[in-house]
Amino acid sequence: MHILITGGAGFIGSHVVRLLVQKYPQYHIFNLDALTYAGNLHNLSDIADAPNYTFLKGDITDEAFLATIFEKHQLEAVIHLAAESHVDRSILNPLEFVKTNVLGTVTLLNVAKQAWKGKVFDTAQTRKGLFYHVSTDEVYGSLEHEGFFTEQTPYSPQSPYSASKAASDHFVRAYHNTYHLPIVLSNCSNNYGQNQFPEKLIPLFIQNIRQNKPLPVYGKGENVRDWLYVIDHARAIDTVFHEGVIGETYNIGGFNEWKNLDLVRLLCQIMDKKLGRQAGESEKLITYVTDRAGHDLRYAIDSSKIKEKLGWEPSLQFEEGLEITVEWYLQNQTWLDEVTSGDYQKFYELQYAGR
Ligand code: NAD
Ligand code: TYD
Repeated sequence: MHILITGGAGFIGSHVVRLLVQKYPQYHIFNLDALTYAGNLHNLSDIADAPNYTFLKGDITDEAFLATIFEKHQLEAVIHLAAESHVDRSILNPLEFVKTNVLGTVTLLNVAKQAWKGKVFDTAQTRKGLFYHVSTDEVYGSLEHEGFFTEQTPYSPQSPYSASKAASDHFVRAYHNTYHLPIVLSNCSNNYGQNQFPEKLIPLFIQNIRQNKPLPVYGKGENVRDWLYVIDHARAIDTVFHEGVIGETYNIGGFNEWKNLDLVRLLCQIMDKKLGRQAGESEKLITYVTDRAGHDLRYAIDSSKIKEKLGWEPSLQFEEGLEITVEWYLQNQTWLDEVTSGDYQKFYELQYAGR
């Protein structure tokens, strides 16, 4: 089967690409990525030469390009992760999020629908003809101190990012309802782990602690997030792609809620130990800054459906996953230096252009 994965040079996408390339030698994985600031081919240097892997540089809003690659590579299934993904950037530039997350998703849906028109796929059995859309729990809005998001929770996105993801989810379901395009969706909680761009809380704070820079905690640090290790998310995506019931949605989360301030304190403790600092030293870097506009108070996912129906559950405890993550960032200082200097963006020209 020829599978198109979009956004495969990003944080979560690169883990999904690696998992599928290594686990399924019988598949050919085509990784389509525009290589925005968040896309980094170094994330995949270990599998770049695998015989069942091809990288394609392109934009999901470019309909002609998409139509060409569907035809040329006979693409038979899609796992769609390409997106603008950072809430703070969406507050500064909402239109970029509409372009990629909404327009890009609809363009991709359209091209897939056209390319597969008239083809007889037994999708439920073979997964050929399946469009899998990867989304976020943020589409459900913000919770108070009680309760969980289930697959039945009405959408109530509160930020330009989550509004754009919610719109894309609606279009995916609309294509299923209107044109009978076989789809599955998943909505996942906050991910952490290796290769996350250091604008998100955990990698940003690891980097700042190491460099003895202030840790900018928004508001009072009382917001709550449910954290899942990225490789567990990649395993869940593999499961939903292969086992998910066509037309259905699966919530993915870790049952692992942390108040931001508690998480930052835990991170400081781990970093103190790793860097040989006195206990309590890194915590002194915590600096309370103006809150994010419209900051969602709490996200919490009820992931019992995917556990009961598909048998997936997280494999790692948070403390263990956080230690692995900290260790990875400390061991991969070059990766961090390159992404913060922008040097990684020259890599494509050197390694891939003209291939
Ligand atoms: P990321 O920002 O690290 O990576 C996004 C990737 O998409 C990058 O490689 C980028 O180059 C690519 N991209 C962006 N615009 C593109 C375009 N127009 N055409 C082609 N490629 C483009 O994001 P991530 O954190 O890996 O998130 C991946 C997906 O998972 C997103 O759809 C996001 O909404 C969803 N998600 C993320 C989280 C999280 O905690 N990070 C949680 C749940 C769901
Ligand atoms: P983030 O990693 O941006 O993910 P999201 O906004 O999608 O949940 O932020 C996680 C939490 O950490 C969120 O409540 C905002 C907060 N935060 C800070 O307090 N300071 C920061 O510098 C960042 C980036 C986030």
